[in-house]
Amino acid sequence: MMKKYLVASLVLFCFLSIFNMACSFNNTNKNAMDTASVTTKNFGTLEGKPVTEYTLTNAAGMQVGIINYGAILTKIITKDKTGALGDVITGYESIDGYVQKGNPYFGAIIGRYANRLAKGAYKVDGVAYTAAINNNGQSLHGGLKGFDKVLWEAVVLPGDSSIQLSYVSVDGEEGYPGNLKVQVVYTLTENNSIKIEYTATTDKTTVLNLTNHAYFNLTAGKSPNIYEHIVQLNANKYTPVDSNLIPTGELLDVKGTPMDFTTPKKVGQDLDKVAGGYDHNWVLNKADGLAEIASVYEPISGRYLTVATTEPGIQFYTGNFLTGTLTGTKKGIVYNKHYALTLETQHFPDSPNQPGFPSTLLKPGETYHQTTVYSFSTK
Ligand code: GLA
Repeated sequence: MMKKYLVASLVLFCFLSIFNMACSFNNTNKNAMDTASVTTKNFGTLEGKPVTEYTLTNAAGMQVGIINYGAILTKIITKDKTGALGDVITGYESIDGYVQKGNPYFGAIIGRYANRLAKGAYKVDGVAYTAAINNNGQSLHGGLKGFDKVLWEAVVLPGDSSIQLSYVSVDGEEGYPGNLKVQVVYTLTENNSIKIEYTATTDKTTVLNLTNHAYFNLTAGKSPNIYEHIVQLNANKYTPVDSNLIPTGELLDVKGTPMDFTTPKKVGQDLDKVAGGYDHNWVLNKADGLAEIASVYEPISGRYLTVATTEPGIQFYTGNFLTGTLTGTKKGIVYNKHYALTLETQHFPDSPNQPGFPSTLLKPGETYHQTTVYSFSTK
């Protein structure tokens, strides 16, 4: 009897040992092959709740930071042509910087309506609404407390390369109808792309225009301006604006004007010929669906950024309102005028008031989808 137990125990012991070895072999193997990772860091507290920075890292060593406040992109660390890593977007060390008055939407998700609505006024199904006014009598980037200023619920998705952020904007918030459920998924791919996928549903017809407001300086702080960045935009037309930066409704040809970026051009080449600097919506030459529509090349670092989107427009803005006064910036960098540029993929500003522009209405039963991909390489 005793002998039987001994043999059985021995067999069990051997089995467990072999099983264990197999498991640890598997684990080692998995770690060696799948090096995408997510780490978290305390970024401060807000409204008594923790703000967390999630850092996605891929096998190539590229890093992307995202916080659950404003679904903000806090850092994009990529290699230059020598292999040295550098952070190519503006931002702050902690939540304190992001909540300061005058933070110009660094890295944030913008909603419900990206860019301007004239006097905040618009109609849905004949009913008049007024979105919160916050910019020279206009409504800019969602109003007083847009999607950039709220806490989102963040979840790390399986695979350790995506973060999903969710937010429910209640009926009437900032002057917009309907309870709107929004989700944004950021994915860092193995080929150094940041994919941003947006989805949303509503229970009443509303207007919706989402974007991300990252400011890029591809020198990663080596140059205090973007004059030498070479930009290309696949757009034969743009939407001119009035003195309040509200589109006039026209679509004008870029040909022969400082707005022409159909072939790659230095940002600084015609910048002083545009009153106030570039801050316009370009009408993209594209059909429906995801297409590559813009690129930026920075010769000193060799960094090359391409932008693909499903959206019909892009706001190319040259940081004209940066004044070097923001505090708590990353490494104490002074963000002066023209330090960085934005490429905000979007529907055209003030579309609800412009019958000639593509519609930004979202109805109950429909799902809003938007995808934008920022891809990094060097050359
Ligand atoms: C957008 C607008 C600009 C400015 C910035 C934020 O790009 O078009 O006019 O408001 O956001 O400062």
